[in-house]
Formats: sequence, structure tokens, C-alpha cells
Amino acid sequence: MEVMTKIKREIFVTKPLLPLLSDLNKHLVDIWESKWLTNMSIKHNELENKLKDTLEVSNLSLFNNGTIALLVAIKALDLPYGSEVITTPFTFAATPHCISWNGLKPVFCDIEPNTMTIDPDKIESLITQNTSAILGVHVYGFPCNVEKIENIAKKYNLKVIYDAAHAFSTKINGVGIGNFGDVTMFSFHATKIFNTIEGGCLTSNNSLLIKKVSSLRNFGIQSEENVEEIGINGKLNELQASFGLECLKIYKDEQRKRNKIKLYYNDRLSKVKGIKIPRMPNNATDSHQYYPIIIEDDYSLTRDELYKKFKSLNIFTRKYFYPACHDYSCYKDNPTMIPNDLTVVNDYKNRVLCLPYYGSLNQYEMNKICEVIENA
Ligand SMILES: Cc1ncc(COP(=O)(O)O)c(C=O)c1O
Repeated sequence: MEVMTKIKREIFVTKPLLPLLSDLNKHLVDIWESKWLTNMSIKHNELENKLKDTLEVSNLSLFNNGTIALLVAIKALDLPYGSEVITTPFTFAATPHCISWNGLKPVFCDIEPNTMTIDPDKIESLITQNTSAILGVHVYGFPCNVEKIENIAKKYNLKVIYDAAHAFSTKINGVGIGNFGDVTMFSFHATKIFNTIEGGCLTSNNSLLIKKVSSLRNFGIQSEENVEEIGINGKLNELQASFGLECLKIYKDEQRKRNKIKLYYNDRLSKVKGIKIPRMPNNATDSHQYYPIIIEDDYSLTRDELYKKFKSLNIFTRKYFYPACHDYSCYKDNPTMIPNDLTVVNDYKNRVLCLPYYGSLNQYEMNKICEVIENA
């Protein structure tokens, strides 16, 4: 077997998208002059409006991170305390934690193999008289089957929440992904293609719901002497909003660069026996958040062996999402869990590997990454 040389400069799975410091500085001058640092001021409101246009939604509320946004979204739906929310375990910890922090029970449903999103054909068997909602995750930017989920929700009178942390700017049949379900959360964490360092937002076609979450993100304060609801501090400050305004100008260029990397990876890796590349459904656009591959049995290494091989060469891929949420010590004894029904996710959590995917990845690095997989 060919001996590979270690890369000098470490390659990570992603690199944050940073606006030019000189462009950000212009906003800082404005902020220093206005002396408004936070509390839904000029930059914040400008970003909120621009995001509405970008995501093609009619109502949007900006938050200081995606987790608080999701927590508030669930709270605003007023689901019966202790009721069950059917969700996917193939996600980041924040998704089920937001259900639990609201005093609700996450019920883990299996995923479907093409998009790795919650399998709508397995949802109905998990519905009980205590079920109040379905929380789907557009994992890696692959859209959930929103149509089937909507039909189930209508039939059983359930609320639908989407975690679109990975799906910034994704469209389904030309419609912005933030228009589906009762409410959708986006994350603007530094690792996300559009970021505000930390940040997030909620979108909904229900203007009253967005009014409510906007009140909850500001402690439920209505006016100086009127606090109507038990809210929280979910406000995004002016400095981070400015960062977002500049990131909005450059994220499309980053997507174009990532698309070139995707085509290069697709071309080389689709020829490797035992490597499967999950494809975006024809009716959806790609957010370019991640580039996951699936390591099948007929590949020469297991996923973990390939991960270690990369690591030994200074290339840091990620095993998203291993462990799956139902494996966490805080969820593994969940009384609502039916482990036998999680066959696809239990298989995929040991097979998926996310490759380095960011615009400034150079030709040498892309070639090296493909070579590692080809020559393993
Ligand atoms: C699927 C998913 N949901 C929720 C979150 C939480 O978002 P935030 O980090 O903005 O709180 C993340 C990660 O950042 C995520 O990947």
C-alpha cells in the first residue's frame, strides 16, 4: 500500500466564512456613534428584513443562537406539558435537548436512507394519545419529506417544527424551506455557511406566532410596565448583526466555490467501490453546508478506520452524527424508546463521514483527500 505523507497545515471539516475586516469596521463606526449595542436596534432590524428576503419568508425573528430560537419556538406552541414530540435521533444534541427543556418527551423515530431525515413512513406507528408534535431536521441540508409529514400532522392534529440549522437558503420546489410546518429554526453558528458567529432565527407563515416568539426572546416584556409572558434573553446584538449583514453579501460566492468542490469530489469519489454519495433530491437546492459520504461494506476500510487514517495525515473529517442522540447517556433509558425500530439510523451512524468542505480548500488539498479515499 502506498505510504501517504502527512499534510503540514491541518485541514478541518469547515472554515468559518469571514467578511473583510474593513467592511465590518464601517458598521462598528456606526455602532460607536449610535451607542446602541443591542436590544433590536438598527443593524438587527436591517438584518431581520434582509434575511426575510433571502429566505423568502413573510415572518422572521432573529435570535442570539439556534438553540434558544428552537427552545422558544417549542415554548410558543404551548404543547401540553409532558407530551411526546416525535423526532429524529440523527441530529445535533440541541434538537432533542430543546424538546426536553420544554418539559416534553422526545420520541426517536428512524431515518430514511436517501436523505437521512426522519422517515415519515415510520412516524405513524409512534403516535400515541400523548403525541403533540413532530420535529424534523433537514440534516446536512437534505429536506425532510415535508408533504408526507404535513399529511400525518393534519390527520392527527399535530404541530410541525423544523430544524433547518443546516439548510440556509434551501428551496423545495422553488419555495424557501422556512415556509413549511408551523415554525422553522435556522442556526447562524460560526460553522454554518451564513453565520453571525453565534445566532439563529425562526420563520413561520403564522405572523402571530412570530410576534409571540419575538416577545419571548425579550423576556416577554411588552412595555415598561407590562410583562405578559415568561420569556428569556434571545436577543442578537448589533455587532453580530453587522457581521451577518456583511456575510449575507458573500455567502452565495462561498456556495459557488463549494459547488465546484462538490462536483470535483462527486467525480472522483463516485468511482470508488464502496463509497456512496447521498444526492440532493431533484426538487431541492443545496445549502452546501456539508459533504457527507457513506462507507459501505465493500469498501476496504470501515468508517472509523478511514476517519483515523485521515486524522493520522492531519485531515480532520467528522463523524456527524455519531453517537446518535438515542445513544447519549441522558436519553438511552428514555421510556419512549423502541430501539428495534431504529435500524437505519443504527447502521448509518457507523457509516457516515463528513469531508472537509469550504470554499478556500485548494486543489492540492482536494486531490489529497480524494487520494486518501482512493488508495486506502
Ligand atoms: C441540527 C442542529 N440543530 C441545532 C443546532 C444548534 O444551533 P446553535 O449552535 O446555533 O445553537 C445545531 C448546531 O449548531 C445543529 O447542527
